[in-house]
Amino acid sequence: MSTDSQAAVLLVDRDPGLARDIMGFLEARGYEVEWVDDGEKAYNRLDSRVFDALITELNIHRVNGMRLMAVAKDRNPEICVVLITEYPDIELAIEAMRQGAYDFQTKPLNLAKLEAVIQRGLGHQRLVLEQFELKRRLDEQYSLGKLVGKSRQMVRVYDDVRQIAPTRATVLIQGETGVGKDLIAQAIHNNSPRRDAPFVKLNCASISESLVESELFGHVAGAFTGATQTRVGRFELADKGTLFLDEAGELSPALQAKLLRVLEHQQFERLGDSKTKTVDVRLIAATNRPLEAMVEAGQFRNDLYYRLRVVLINVPSLRTRREDIPLLVDHFVREACAANDRSIDGITRNAVDMLMRYDWPGNVRELKNIIEGMVIMARGGRPLDVHDVPEHIRRVSTPQVGEIRIPAGARMSEVERIVIGETMKVCGYNKEACATTLGIGLRTLYRKIKEYDIR
Ligand SMILES: Nc1ncnc2c1ncn2[C@@H]1O[C@H](COP(=O)(O)OP(=O)(O)O)[C@@H](O)[C@H]1O
Ligand SMILES: [Mg+2]
Repeated sequence: MSTDSQAAVLLVDRDPGLARDIMGFLEARGYEVEWVDDGEKAYNRLDSRVFDALITELNIHRVNGMRLMAVAKDRNPEICVVLITEYPDIELAIEAMRQGAYDFQTKPLNLAKLEAVIQRGLGHQRLVLEQFELKRRLDEQYSLGKLVGKSRQMVRVYDDVRQIAPTRATVLIQGETGVGKDLIAQAIHNNSPRRDAPFVKLNCASISESLVESELFGHVAGAFTGATQTRVGRFELADKGTLFLDEAGELSPALQAKLLRVLEHQQFERLGDSKTKTVDVRLIAATNRPLEAMVEAGQFRNDLYYRLRVVLINVPSLRTRREDIPLLVDHFVREACAANDRSIDGITRNAVDMLMRYDWPGNVRELKNIIEGMVIMARGGRPLDVHDVPEHIRRVSTPQVGEIRIPAGARMSEVERIVIGETMKVCGYNKEACATTLGIGLRTLYRKIKEYDIR
């Protein structure tokens, strides 16, 4: 459905009076409504064009509403289906929702409510389609190199990268572990005129201080105990290209001083060598420690800090851009399937919702690892679902209970049953989480589940 055209609604109801009311109401609000009074005609209409929404009685002449819904979904998987019944029937309502109905309403209808439901359903549909569209063209605007994510913050990062990549400015990338600093450094290099020259990386935290120095600048044989051969350092290896210094906050004061000199003069000596070398290197540094605070605490050189942060890119943590999670999840599911030779039919909305509620202290790296684990452990032939999400994430993803519709005039026991059933669903059928959410004891929950036969 395009946003500017009218939404097409197929209305299936035997009652011409009611149909007229619904049509009048919806048409006055900009919908295009077609009405048929039996199931056969409905099938014919569904075959002849695409509808955005279907409103149908559950039991219509010569056809079953559920079956009609299945056919409608076959023609348009995103169709918003609202089922109507004469009497409130919770069993049926739950079953209908399970089979993909968007909503379930009982006569007499409240037209304003009906319209509100359809509007919401179409909004949801539009979102799904937009995601689909995005998937189809994860283009320029919403991705950069291997980076996925369309949050405002990430689009800003892409813009910054595109702007600075062609220059030779030193870049400082700051952000928590796992937010994508490595990928960003790569993207800067790949979008720069240096892209055909080497991209060389050194993680300052992974090796001892004395080794960092020889790794960076190289050494000649005999420079120190164990230096049996001459060794070319990363600065030389990165000549004409880019040197990426990861965890730059770990550099010792002595090395900070040496690094500053290279940055200012592009000159250095190999350890144990008196000959000065000149290189043309662009430096990108990354840190998960706040360098500015380290400068204030006297742990990091002021002058080096300013030299590094000619351009500063702050990469936001994943929990501050949760809207990126669905795209990332989708991306990692595919990636993990390809890498592990598995085929998995995507992931359910509920599971994605659950992943979106988690805080991801390890950011994108943690998400990627979790998804890979889920893909490997999953049974094939169905999409990943909430029960595939690891227990520790399920537990802390405090459920936000969705809106629950309860028919007016329902008995208290019915209300309880609906609320418990829906909450169980939201909690991924985890009884502890469900009891906590409802604020009742676990034993009480067990009793009620049994009493209401909730599964
Ligand atoms: N925006 C992103 N899109 C796709 N993959 C990402 C993204 N951000 C991070 N990753 C992946 O997550 C992992 C951690 O990213 P990395 O760049 O190493 O993080 P950092 O260097 O900040 O710790 C890597 O496997 C990387 O490919
Ligand atoms: Mg890193």
